[in-house]
Amino acid sequence: MNEQIEQYAPSKLLVTGGAGFIGANFVHYWLDTYPQDRVIVLDALTYAGNRANLAGCESNPQFQFVQGDICDTGLIEKLLQDEQIDTLVHFAAESHVDRSIHGPDAFIETNITGTHSLLKAAKKVWLDGGGMKHRFHHVSTDEVYGTLAVNDPAFAETNQYAPNSPYAASKASSDHLVRAYHHTYGLQVTTSNCSNNYGPYQFPEKLIPLVIANILDGKPLPIYGDGKQIRDWLYVDDHNRGIDLIIRKGRLGETYNIGGNNEWTNIDIVKLICQLLDERFEADATMQERFPHSPQVAGRGAESLITFVKDRLGHDRRYAIDARKISGELGYDPVESFETGIRKTLDWYLDNEAWWRAVMDGSYQEWVGTNYD
Ligand code: NAD
Ligand code: TYD
Repeated sequence: MNEQIEQYAPSKLLVTGGAGFIGANFVHYWLDTYPQDRVIVLDALTYAGNRANLAGCESNPQFQFVQGDICDTGLIEKLLQDEQIDTLVHFAAESHVDRSIHGPDAFIETNITGTHSLLKAAKKVWLDGGGMKHRFHHVSTDEVYGTLAVNDPAFAETNQYAPNSPYAASKASSDHLVRAYHHTYGLQVTTSNCSNNYGPYQFPEKLIPLVIANILDGKPLPIYGDGKQIRDWLYVDDHNRGIDLIIRKGRLGETYNIGGNNEWTNIDIVKLICQLLDERFEADATMQERFPHSPQVAGRGAESLITFVKDRLGHDRRYAIDARKISGELGYDPVESFETGIRKTLDWYLDNEAWWRAVMDGSYQEWVGTNYD
């Protein structure tokens, strides 16, 4: 407790990775909650970034989209200066563990070098340029802490870092750089380490949207290993509420774990989605016309698609978050129950079929071929 809690009010935000899953939800959340604030998104539009995720914001005069790479330090400096940015919220990353196993280089470049590029630019403009009040919020993951056995206590902020995948190692490295820029130069940083998110706009290479899309198309539901790995699932807007609280009230230089207190084995979560979609097919006759390849059309339940496949290399067994620090200090509590959040998510994917079909393009099919060979 080396810093006083103070209230901070952002007004001009630069959101990196704002065209990705969590970033896009954050931008919608922020503009809805704080319509007087200006929000500029910087995103390279990799395979995971999609301008359509921000379609609802494009006509808002407070919103601007800039396509660019976080490794371009000159561009970041210019944006911070020209737009008089006071708050940088850093989501941009390569984010998929399986891709980091097949090709770690992009993870080192974006997650480590890219984060350092942002820190350098922020230091130059905000500290060397006169010391204006500012915030640099770094969005990170619980995967930096490694893996837990079933009965281990959940990850607290004091846990030792023990990243196991190239993705987790690159995020751990970026967390350390953020911490160092605070400790050494006095950059006004905060960091959050969150558990697995789910919700609208999640790219269908991640477990929940992959399972939804594959059921609707009658494709196998690949379960790695024995399916008994455990994840703590949090609805994406609950993550964003946590980030909001940390930016406004968090102590400088501190990290806060955000989690849902909602642990599920992979196999159980897949079976739950199967059951919920079976119920939709029973309740709504148009589902069969809309999804003619679904197993329900052939009179089978979605669980018939479950297929156990080769385990992920170095697969972490369990993640769980101890969120007592953010709830005790900042009054954080998730508002979405898993029951409501998963139903909302299913509704969103059913209502936005065009979105997920459009992102499952040639490069997506190539990825599926590589990963599930
Ligand atoms: P995502 O892969 O859906 O989106 C990442 C976004 O970053 C994309 O829009 C992409 O175009 C952009 N991007 C990638 N490289 C870039 C670069 N060099 N320059 C500019 N933009 C670039 O990821 P996500 O799931 O939304 O995750 C966002 C952040 O939250 C990441 O930092 C991730 O580590 C962290 N996180 C994610 C989860 C989760 O469950 N998804 C959980 C905890 C933390
Ligand atoms: P994922 O959504 O990739 O998130 P993370 O690896 O960051 O936790 O995967 C969630 C869990 O689901 C993880 O234990 C791996 C597992 N999984 C499968 O069993 N099959 C799949 O096809 C995918 C994508 C994930």
